[in-house]
Amino acid sequence: MPFSKRILVTGGAGFIGSHLVRLFVNKYPNYQIINFDKLTYAGNLENLKDVDSAPNYVFVKGDIVSINDVQEVFENFAISDVIHLAAESHVDRSIEGPMDFVMTNVVGTVNLLQAAKESWKEGEHVFHHVSTDEVYGSLGDEGFFTEETPFDPRSPYSASKASSDHFVSAFFHTYGLPIKMSNCSNNYGSHHFPEKLIPLMILNIQNNKPLPVYGKGENIRDWLWVEDHVKAIDTIFHNGTVGESYNVGGLNEWTNIDLVRFLCRMMDEKLNREKGESEKLITYVSDRKGHDMRYAIDASKLENELGWKPSITFEEGLEKTVDWYLNNQEWIEKVTSGDYQSYYKEMYANR
Ligand code: NAD
Ligand code: TYD
Repeated sequence: MPFSKRILVTGGAGFIGSHLVRLFVNKYPNYQIINFDKLTYAGNLENLKDVDSAPNYVFVKGDIVSINDVQEVFENFAISDVIHLAAESHVDRSIEGPMDFVMTNVVGTVNLLQAAKESWKEGEHVFHHVSTDEVYGSLGDEGFFTEETPFDPRSPYSASKASSDHFVSAFFHTYGLPIKMSNCSNNYGSHHFPEKLIPLMILNIQNNKPLPVYGKGENIRDWLWVEDHVKAIDTIFHNGTVGESYNVGGLNEWTNIDLVRFLCRMMDEKLNREKGESEKLITYVSDRKGHDMRYAIDASKLENELGWKPSITFEEGLEKTVDWYLNNQEWIEKVTSGDYQSYYKEMYANR
């Protein structure tokens, strides 16, 4: 039987992308899932070992910055829909070198939009653009980001994502391309590359290495389990209104220092360490340039209109995450060999 949709998932070998691919391959055997990924340092096909022989899954190595690569995959697979996750995603790397972020996040997104516009002359299609709450800027003590909050990006990463969001919106208003958008808070979970706060701290606690907390550790992030994010994307992709954006978040705000302490306590127990032992590893280091103070999402549109809500508590999700890292040493060794060591040295050695 022919597939009812042929969905191009960009960045499907990354952290969130691999969770999304797994969900769609298993849940929708009548869809063909084409994972299109350049396999940068953040992309890893090991993340998809459990689905890579499924009959409705294909991997295509390609770069969204190359219009040829993009046009070819649209033609070869008669792509009917796009879920776009491919991006350069790490704020600290964007501070060191913004141009990769411009190329992949802005130029790459526009290439995909162009290819969709050229290919989709008739029939039903969806271009779902996955974005971040960081496009809204930084909050003080009060308030939440809603879908109406004006964009005010402050890091090169968030500026590139905001730009891509504007292009997606422009293709809807100008050409009527059937787009949907979601802006999500910080994700955590398995297969997360250990440059981001939670997996980096888990690995360092395990290895008795210093825990580098930026500034005073008072910055606040709103954490959501990655599996709940991909369920939100599923819901919006299928039931969201064309042309609209939806905020996704966990109502789960933590200061970085409280979160690191919480992780230390959880891991002391799991590693049979004495109470308080891991906390001794906490080391305050110089702050990130332009460090956004607080992110917090109001997800009531998604909850009220489409009935989505987070499925588990932060405590449960974090425990699953820590257990996954403790039980997947091979994955950790693979992603931390080679380039990771030099990245770590460059970022943290003289901080
Ligand atoms: P990630 O860095 O783990 O993965 C990115 C993936 O994109 C990798 O597989 C990489 O190989 C691929 N990629 C990068 N450049 C490419 C290119 N030029 N062509 C093709 N593939 C390329 O990122 P993630 O954390 O999984 O984030 C996925 C998306 O979700 C991003 O768009 C990000 O902005 C957004 N987002 C992330 C979070 C978060 O907390 N991680 C929160 C909200 C939104
Ligand atoms: P990160 O995981 O990089 O996500 P984002 O910057 O996109 O929110 O960082 C989360 C928070 O943790 C942020 O306030 C910066 C802080 N942080 C540290 O204190 N130490 C670290 O080593 C890292 C990577 C982040």
